Amino acid sequence: MDEQLNRLQAEVAARRTFAIISHPDAGKTTLTEKLLLYGGALHVAGSVRSRGEGRQTTSDWMEIERQRGISVSTSVLQFEYAGRHMNLLDTPGHNDFSEDTYRTLAAADTAIMLIDCVKGVEPQTIKLFQVCRMRGIPIVTFVNKLDRDGKDPFELLDEIERVLGIPCSPANWPMGVGRSFVGLFDRWAQSLQVFHGAGGSHRGEMRRASWDDAELLEILGKGQLQRLRDEVALLETAGTPFDRERFLAGQITPVFFGSAMTNCGLEPMLDHFVDLAPAPRVRMTSAGPLDPAEPAFSGFVFKIQANMDPQHRDRIAFVRICSGRFVRGMDARHVRTGKTLSLSRSVQFMAQTRTVVDEAYSGDIVGLWDPGVLRIGDSLCQGQLVEFEGIPRFSPEHFVRVRLNDPLKRKQLKKGLEQLSEEGAVQVFFDRQRMERDPILGAVGVLQFEVIAHRLRGEYGVRIGFDRLPYRYARWIEGDSLDLNGFELPGRQSCVVDVEGRPLVLFETDYLLARAQERNKGVTFISAVQPGRSHRAAA
Ligand code: G4P
Repeated sequence: MDEQLNRLQAEVAARRTFAIISHPDAGKTTLTEKLLLYGGALHVAGSVRSRGEGRQTTSDWMEIERQRGISVSTSVLQFEYAGRHMNLLDTPGHNDFSEDTYRTLAAADTAIMLIDCVKGVEPQTIKLFQVCRMRGIPIVTFVNKLDRDGKDPFELLDEIERVLGIPCSPANWPMGVGRSFVGLFDRWAQSLQVFHGAGGSHRGEMRRASWDDAELLEILGKGQLQRLRDEVALLETAGTPFDRERFLAGQITPVFFGSAMTNCGLEPMLDHFVDLAPAPRVRMTSAGPLDPAEPAFSGFVFKIQANMDPQHRDRIAFVRICSGRFVRGMDARHVRTGKTLSLSRSVQFMAQTRTVVDEAYSGDIVGLWDPGVLRIGDSLCQGQLVEFEGIPRFSPEHFVRVRLNDPLKRKQLKKGLEQLSEEGAVQVFFDRQRMERDPILGAVGVLQFEVIAHRLRGEYGVRIGFDRLPYRYARWIEGDSLDLNGFELPGRQSCVVDVEGRPLVLFETDYLLARAQERNKGVTFISAVQPGRSHRAAA
């Protein structure tokens, strides 16, 4: 028994489960590909993405992604590095799919925040940073594209601190920028690292050097070398010192510099990252804190994806394991319904290939074949029944009414929308009085509608069009003896119900929303709800 427990503890301690957050184009795909290269999961970077006619990563699988050159889906990539088992949660790059990213971050223990050194802190980075902060996820910063002439490193640190409000503690410091970005000074090891030949699709070379290194002097010149020494000295006196506890509490971020494209600075970042990133930590549950090395298995669903393989018409629920060991074929209780499920079909994904998982540990992600029982946020466990902190559904900001081209396909439309709504790909609402009328769809980003139309056609054989609706805000409402008709204002404000029959009001303007709140003091207006749970729990 002791041996089993020791093994469980060692396996959990080796897990690093993380996500990369960034604004589109900062280099997330490139960095992902390089991490896999360094982790030995790929032999030549570039096989992840074919360049030319649009973008494609191994984790992209939908046709629409290829057509539009965006990354819509989320998957998990695994690789080994320095004896650690790394789980990289891939998130959609386009901000229209940010809801998916928010959900994925619930499953991550650490985030790498990627900053483009030319553009600095961008809007999507700010949003995602705030989600990490809300969830207390520690953040490691990687300033990318140092091979380009970007902003001054001091200016970048200042910008991150000012815009995001998090103190920066540079772990290393670049030697030169742009074409003359030749190496790094590792502040923690107090050593100089000089790059040899930009790596590109193969691992880059690196050698240690001293301050009086002849080659370094030749490349940088006396002036620039002296400047570097001055900068390093300045950081010692004026920089924020690194503090592990503050980092783990999300109160400070270590900063690394490099170029994902040329591989310069990747190894130094990864070498430190595996030690910096925490192993799975204690998670809060309805029954109190839960230790990841607790032997009884538990986990929660953070993503559902149907029809990943059109030939099999399957539905996969992605579960983040929070304690214990998962063994294929085991039984687990589905906390929301109280049913016992046999977890016999479990898979892990690497690009389009999926492999059967026989065992996995706390921190890992497993894909479970789901007969239609699981919902996002659901808990699965053995032993004591616990529920994990939920994953809220956010209030949509765009609304359309579905136009069904072929009325004979109503049944397929219903089935498809039910499925897509359970996946969290879109939110579906109905008119209160005329439930048979074509439904209203709500999304956080408009591209979601295109994905829905595309998937309904491809996976359910239904062609639909959309009529844009003027609403911009949605609030679930709760209160005693609500007069739902009182919230109707034709054309500008409407009261509808969601798939679980909960009423919500759609508003055209923030003025109307504020007015409704003002006039209905006894009503609670809720902007994010937990699927399958009561409003009050979510409010
Ligand atoms: P994303 O997933 O965050 O959207 O970014 P992605 O990796 O696709 O990178 C966006 C662009 O930035 C790509 O160029 C990529 O090659 C480039 N890039 C990424 N990392 C670096 C870096 O370290 N240095 C430089 N100079 N460029 C970098 P593109 O022209 O849009 O595409 P491609 O023609 O290179 O495929």
